[in-house]
Amino acid sequence: MRSVAWDDGAVKMIDQRALPWRLEFARLETVAQVAESIRNMTVRGAPAIGASAAFGMALAARESAEADMRSLLAFLEQQGELLKTARPTAVNLAWAVERMLEVAHSGECKTADELREALLLAAQQIADDDVSINRRMGAHGAALVNDGATILHHCNTGSLACVDYGTALGVVRAAHEAGKRLHILLDETRPRLQGSRLSAWEMEELGVSYAIIPDTAAGYYMQNGEVDMILVGADRIAANGDVANKIGTYQLAVLAAAHDLPFYCVAPTSTVDLALPCGDEIPIEQRDSAEVTTPYGVAIVPAHYQARNPAFDVTPHHYVTGIVTEHGIARPPYTKSLARAVRGKI
Ligand code: MRU
Repeated sequence: MRSVAWDDGAVKMIDQRALPWRLEFARLETVAQVAESIRNMTVRGAPAIGASAAFGMALAARESAEADMRSLLAFLEQQGELLKTARPTAVNLAWAVERMLEVAHSGECKTADELREALLLAAQQIADDDVSINRRMGAHGAALVNDGATILHHCNTGSLACVDYGTALGVVRAAHEAGKRLHILLDETRPRLQGSRLSAWEMEELGVSYAIIPDTAAGYYMQNGEVDMILVGADRIAANGDVANKIGTYQLAVLAAAHDLPFYCVAPTSTVDLALPCGDEIPIEQRDSAEVTTPYGVAIVPAHYQARNPAFDVTPHHYVTGIVTEHGIARPPYTKSLARAVRGKI
């Protein structure tokens, strides 16, 4: 089952807000609805929002009745901006919109209808590529995982966060499918609880042994010698290997270094932003403080209490043991290895 797909003139996606209690699907018929579904996290996870945006662009082309190519292209540019600004940190979103605009501007389509068809094919290709890329990352990453390993994992990076299979949890899946016995400690990832709600649901589906832990228990388990490696995904990776990922990733990396544990990031090269020399310039999404004070509608403090809610942080590259990409594992110095990975050869 894919988390995001084209469905007879609409974008169909798993509503990730309803899991693990209910497996529900949202059917989106306008590009504005797709942008809103990214903003309100019906769909989330860097590759999944990239694929959603690609399908959103295909939808935009169909929404416009323009027969004139220039007007249609102008409309697509405008809708691309709407999608790109839905969430700021994951570069896959802008990457997917840019890929779709490249197709639109390639000059290969002579009519507006041809362009509509070409955009749908391009979006479908982005979705299909995501799955095959994840499988390749899974194979590279599984080689790092020992039989019997306990892996600490942050947020949700599985099939839900992608079109299918997953990045860091794709590595877990590949190692599991190769017959390795694993135990996964799943950070809950307050406040949206992607670890406990979504990653645990995926582990249940796959039959992998796991335990949800409070985010604050990670150091305890490392200190007790109960963690063999840490696996995380990424929302954006700067040219020097600084990694933006779900809030709390940075503190895990520092703890991993303190306990001499390998800390691996698993991400496709579409997550690498070579335009940014280092992580300082990665925009960090600040979400509504109500997600902290009133998670999923349950008020844990009076409504007027103050809170802050950064959704991501940046882990400096010197804490990162390696970055697993679809082309192999990038190692320090990342400025060289990531540039090679983006060119398709490590
Ligand atoms: O806010 P989210 O749930 O979209 O954040 C997701 C993450 O931080 C993931 O770790 C990241 O997107 C990598 S997912 C393959």
